Amino acid sequence: MTRARISSRRCPKTNYDGTAQPRMLPFLGYTGKLLLRRDGRRSSVRAFYWLEWRHAALAKTLRKACRGTENDVTDRIAIRNLYKIFGNAPDRALDLLKSGETKETVLARTGQVVGLCDVSISVPVGSIYMIMGLSGSGKSTLARCINRLIEPDAGTITIDGEPVTGTSEARLREIRRTRVSMVFQHFALLPNRTVIENAEFGLKLRGVGAGERRRKALEVLDVVGLSAWANHLPKALSGGMRQRVGLARALATEADVLIMDEAFSALDPLIRSEMQDELLRLQRTLKKTILFITHDFQEALKLGSRVAIMADGMVMREGTPQEIVLDPRHPYVAAFTRDIDRARLFDAASVMEPCQPLALNGCHETADMAGQSGTTFVVDERHRIAGVIDGTRIGDLRRGMDVRKLLTQDYEAVRHTARLADIAGIYRADRPIAVVDDDGQFLGRVDPVRILGRIATPAAAPAQSRMTGG
Ligand SMILES: Nc1ncnc2c1ncn2[C@@H]1O[C@H](COP(=O)(O)OP(=O)(O)OP(=O)(O)O)[C@@H](O)[C@H]1O
Ligand SMILES: [Mg+2]
Repeated sequence: MTRARISSRRCPKTNYDGTAQPRMLPFLGYTGKLLLRRDGRRSSVRAFYWLEWRHAALAKTLRKACRGTENDVTDRIAIRNLYKIFGNAPDRALDLLKSGETKETVLARTGQVVGLCDVSISVPVGSIYMIMGLSGSGKSTLARCINRLIEPDAGTITIDGEPVTGTSEARLREIRRTRVSMVFQHFALLPNRTVIENAEFGLKLRGVGAGERRRKALEVLDVVGLSAWANHLPKALSGGMRQRVGLARALATEADVLIMDEAFSALDPLIRSEMQDELLRLQRTLKKTILFITHDFQEALKLGSRVAIMADGMVMREGTPQEIVLDPRHPYVAAFTRDIDRARLFDAASVMEPCQPLALNGCHETADMAGQSGTTFVVDERHRIAGVIDGTRIGDLRRGMDVRKLLTQDYEAVRHTARLADIAGIYRADRPIAVVDDDGQFLGRVDPVRILGRIATPAAAPAQSRMTGG
């Protein structure tokens, strides 16, 4: 007879005498050890470990989802305590800033313009990192400091751990030629050169031979869908096509860092949206590290794996799009988030409740841990969903009935990245919704109340339409 037990297929091995095997220790921490000592019951200890392990697995999945690539373990660009003052006496301005004065006060007292004030960000390898802010907030200054087209006054910048600030002029030139490419708002194409000549221009500057740079330019024009236009002049192209040439030119250098300063801002809305989709599509294979500057919050949310929101040369808020909308922390940031379509921003993982599935094979006494109300998910040995058992049948399970006879397929399953708008579309009152990872393994479940809570805008005024007596 097949009986259910709490799934432990991927649970770490546990010594039930109150000690944990060494490889589990990093997940447990101090609280874990305390709980183990206090709770001698075997099944509870096992459930505790299971939960610890599932949370760790979920956190890993979420980190992957947020950062966009599988191997994001390091930061490509690290900026620490960066300051830029425009003017001839930056030292006094720096002192005032470090003592807590504002950009306005510094300007009034010293005549110096604050470009950047104590900016610290980390750009993960392979991410699209958005710098968002209104005009004059310091976005372009920050971008240009990265390859020191603008010289910062204080702070450090490293690329893959190599200092950019303080490095020699020769090394800086090398970094600019080989590590960092830029794409600008107004394309910056050479009007009298053909599309392919523009695409290979960066390679020409690097001294790459004619044959090799032509081959590479054709390759990148193909990537951006412009091969057929190779021998036309830029004036024959639309705005969107010109920006594709700008992108091709940046890609041709094979630099692993792309800085795109308002690259889509000059495009009309439809073309702009197409270019955003195109960039996301390209990034799936290119896996560049992209610093994308925009004043458009929607664009930041759509493209960004992380977003830094700037004002007055400072980073006001930094995080994933979901983190920022969920917890803006600052009125300036909250103002951007108010009109966001939360149902299309938040995903299943953001509302998911981890819960214990039962395993198809195993001892039936742990069926005690399944809920009496609602339904319980049952997973197979690969941790994929085998079905659900109604809460009213758990008693039968405990009495020893074959779990397979109790299973039904009355459930829905969504991936952890599914948007809430899509989940709402499949919701039915009598069918629980499971969340699965990219391999189809069970992660948890979503509840409609949590979905509604997440979609609701916290800053919205209290409902005016509530009926009052009289
Ligand atoms: N060369 C300069 N000389 C003096 N002040 C400057 C210079 N460049 C930028 N600034 C000032 O630094 C601040 C940040 O400018 P920056 O160009 O970085 O803003 P931005 O966020 O890119 O704005 P926009 O969205 O308009 O491009 C502004 O107050 C600006 O006036
Ligand atoms: Mg700018």
